[in-house]
Amino acid sequence: MSKKTVLVTGASSGLGHAAALMLADNGFRVFAAARNIEGVFANVEGIEPISLDVSCSVSVAAAFERIDQACAEQPLWGLVNNAGICVPSPLELLSAEELRRQLDTNVIGQLLVTQAALPHLRRSGGRIVNVTSGLGSIAVPYLGAYSIAQFAKMAFSDALRRELAHSGVSVSVVQPGAINTPIWGKFSSTGQQVLAQADGETRKIYGPSFSTFLEQSEALASQASTSETDFARTILAVLSSASPDTHYCVGADAAEFVQMARTLSTGDLDALFIAQMPTAQAFAEVAQTSDAP
Ligand SMILES: NC(=O)c1ccc[n+]([C@@H]2O[C@H](COP(=O)([O-])OP(=O)(O)OC[C@H]3O[C@@H](n4cnc5c(N)ncnc54)[C@H](OP(=O)(O)O)[C@@H]3O)[C@@H](O)[C@H]2O)c1
Repeated sequence: MSKKTVLVTGASSGLGHAAALMLADNGFRVFAAARNIEGVFANVEGIEPISLDVSCSVSVAAAFERIDQACAEQPLWGLVNNAGICVPSPLELLSAEELRRQLDTNVIGQLLVTQAALPHLRRSGGRIVNVTSGLGSIAVPYLGAYSIAQFAKMAFSDALRRELAHSGVSVSVVQPGAINTPIWGKFSSTGQQVLAQADGETRKIYGPSFSTFLEQSEALASQASTSETDFARTILAVLSSASPDTHYCVGADAAEFVQMARTLSTGDLDALFIAQMPTAQAFAEVAQTSDAP
């Protein structure tokens, strides 16, 4: 029998890159997609790079023209919706453009690619794997935009799974915790840009705690005990299992977040974060010196 074909988005780096390699090593034919994919998998057997910007419908259509041709005899069997970015910002400083960029990549992009893949997946009785995050269960301050996107992806996955219940296509969610990938370096530089663009008043309120948050998050991720390989193994398990589960966690921290979201009250969850937020004194000092309404 010929190999099952899987499309992995966000495969040029980090988790998607590791998953593409592991799937190819385990007998899948892999379309590895990203905006900058040229040369990433040069000469890796079983992996075909494909240029794709998930947030652009023209790019999705062009990528699927190629996939449709390549899969004319045997339809695509798996889709791993993994492409994503992380925009950290206090919500008071978050521009509409940055929120759109976050949602276009992590939410709208996933919809566009899923819609394009479904004619294949319905024919093959295939698999959809949506990569979200522990932050799809608990909204974290200063990661509001990212949490909004991850909650949306969780809702998207639940609705889609129910709509496709009788289609033969399964929909699974994979929620990783912190894993040391290039996303964290990009996270810090985006956060620093947000702060650099803030006006004096908001920088005074949020600057100290947001800077500490950026530093601590990147340091924490660099020490993460969960690896890209752990993530790739989970993706392989979902795509290899005869009947995949609906939800998977990768890492104890992600599992803990999911558990806390189920068991703790809103007050308890708030208490986990507020000690790191701007103090009443920081707000009061700015209010005293401000001539704004
Ligand atoms: N690492 C973690 O700690 C962690 C934890 C929880 C969840 N996640 C999730 O896991 C996924 C992968 O993250 P990662 O850590 O591997 O990040 P990463 O190393 O930064 O990789 C992100 C991938 O997404 C691609 N991408 C970004 N924008 C895209 C677009 N518009 N169209 C197509 N591809 C795009 C990037 O490639 P190009 O820039 O070349 O397009 C890259 O291949 C993300 O969805 C993230 O939210 C990560």
